[in-house]
Amino acid sequence: MFHAWHEFSSHYNTLSSYAENRKWQPHYSETNSAHTVLFTEKAIAARVEQLGADLTAKLGDKRPVLVCVLKGASFFYIDLCRCMNCAIDMDFIAVSSYGASAQSTGVVRLIKDLDNNITGRHVVIVEDIIDSGLTMQYLRQLFGARNPASITTVSFLDKASRHPESYKTDMCGFEIPDEFVVGYGLDYANYYRNLPYIGILKPECYKSVSYTHLRAHETSQDL
Ligand code: IMP
Ligand code: MG
Repeated sequence: MFHAWHEFSSHYNTLSSYAENRKWQPHYSETNSAHTVLFTEKAIAARVEQLGADLTAKLGDKRPVLVCVLKGASFFYIDLCRCMNCAIDMDFIAVSSYGASAQSTGVVRLIKDLDNNITGRHVVIVEDIIDSGLTMQYLRQLFGARNPASITTVSFLDKASRHPESYKTDMCGFEIPDEFVVGYGLDYANYYRNLPYIGILKPECYKSVSYTHLRAHETSQDL
């Protein structure tokens, strides 16, 4: 039990040493039969530390506004903010996409806008995963119209084979194959968000629902 921040930080001076050494264990077992582990908590922590350092090097003297795209990006966002060694502002947005997201006709709807004005600011959009890329395109256009000084996009995961090269994110944690993944904020019907690692959901867990339908359901109802 830690009683003061300095006591905590002298034990866990990086996110990955915290992931490695902390005493409590997640509620879900890694042997849960619904999924297989793709990235462990430790691998995630090491990658997020690197992304935090890269972002600090790029925007550290500009007091960037980091925007969390709720809810999926929430775990990644908080860890990334903790790994930035500079002054930042935090803001949150919620969107929902619906329609078959494989098609470019997919519609993105704004559920909750930013609290603060981003005109003249250096904005970093923090997403959980790029699939069709439509959500990120929508946010780029929405924020671009508000005349920010710059926009940088960071996505924890990128299903690169699912979208055109032009929809690629500026920074990415990991490129992954076209599999349905859960954990570290990502959900299936609102389950699994609190897994501390990324798992591939076994297809038999959603075999009665087509993949396209699954995505449409997920993104329309669960952000
Ligand atoms: P896009 O607009 O098609 O890029 O959709 C991105 C959104 O779809 C993400 O922010 C997620 O909410 C959701 N999504 C896409 N792929 C997955 C997945 O494998 N697991 C969980 N959610 C996903
Ligand atoms: Mg999302």
